[in-house]
Amino acid sequence: MSGPTQTEALARATLESRLAALAAIAVRHDEPLAPHTSMGVGGPARWFIEVEERGALAHLLALLGEAGVAWTMLGGGSNTLFEDRGFEGAVVHLGKGFRFIEADPAQPELIHTGSGALLSAAMNFAKRRGLSGLEFGAGIPGTLGGALAGNSGAGGADICSLAESVEVLDEDGAERTLARGEFGFSYRKSGLAGRIILAARLRLAPASREEIETAIQAHLAKRMEQPIGDRSSGCMFKNPPGEYAGRLIDAAGLKGLQVGGISVSNTHANFMINEGGGTAQEIRQLMEEVRRRVQEESGFELEAEVRWVRPSD
Ligand code: EPU
Repeated sequence: MSGPTQTEALARATLESRLAALAAIAVRHDEPLAPHTSMGVGGPARWFIEVEERGALAHLLALLGEAGVAWTMLGGGSNTLFEDRGFEGAVVHLGKGFRFIEADPAQPELIHTGSGALLSAAMNFAKRRGLSGLEFGAGIPGTLGGALAGNSGAGGADICSLAESVEVLDEDGAERTLARGEFGFSYRKSGLAGRIILAARLRLAPASREEIETAIQAHLAKRMEQPIGDRSSGCMFKNPPGEYAGRLIDAAGLKGLQVGGISVSNTHANFMINEGGGTAQEIRQLMEEVRRRVQEESGFELEAEVRWVRPSD
């Protein structure tokens, strides 16, 4: 491989000095991505940048844009996979200033949540206030931003259905509030994917704490049917219309199928487990093999639910 040209080296040095001058960001170089994802795979990111507040985020993205550096947002890393060669660009992670969860005094059924807040933290906040709707988030790892981008859900409920409005940062650095109806969503899909999500207002419903706690326990009991203690990315494939990916993979006899350090879970067939030392390449191979064999056995085409970030994304 050839090294950077003189012009590229100069552009990089300029970017480095401009990054160093930005307040409220922390930059790490050649940061391994595996520890930032629940599956524990992925090579290094050229830059891993933690941003503490909105103004800094807009500045940062403008700088990266001017320098022609690819970037991607990373939330909790529980549904995202990076390649073994890593990400030749900037991985942007939202810090403290994006983790707020607050009540709206004027509208007690709404909560205002930063995109960096954990879904489970928002659920607990709502429970304390006697607000129901987020119980499906019990046991789901990840941040509100990631949940909105992929329309996370469980048991028929999902996060986008609760979003009254979503604040995003546009490409030109302007903040916009999208009202319900201004972004589309469907099962595990959201028009917010690829946008920079800052915060959302979630509309919940009053309920007793006992009712909320009972619903949370029911969701947690369901999670016990999943390999929650293992290194996974949750469900790997979306459920095809009218079917369940887990049932199809199981029926095709693929539980326990292994490529290198990655295996199809014996507990729930739509999960893959990093048994230790697994790689992104092995996940790709196993996903391909599972897709091929499910297609052969049942005719169903499985679509990935996890988000793959390519080096050039
Ligand atoms: N099944 C099998 N074998 C298995 C796994 C499941 O036969 O190994 C069967 C089950 O018996 C059931 C059906 O498949 O009849 C569906 O299984 P389950 O009830 O576990 O739900 P799921 O559709 O596989 C969905 C979400 C989960 C969420 C659960 C609980 C998707 C792709 N998955 O799973 O979300 O936790 O419901 O509500 O929609 C995730 O998105 O990462 C995730 C884990």
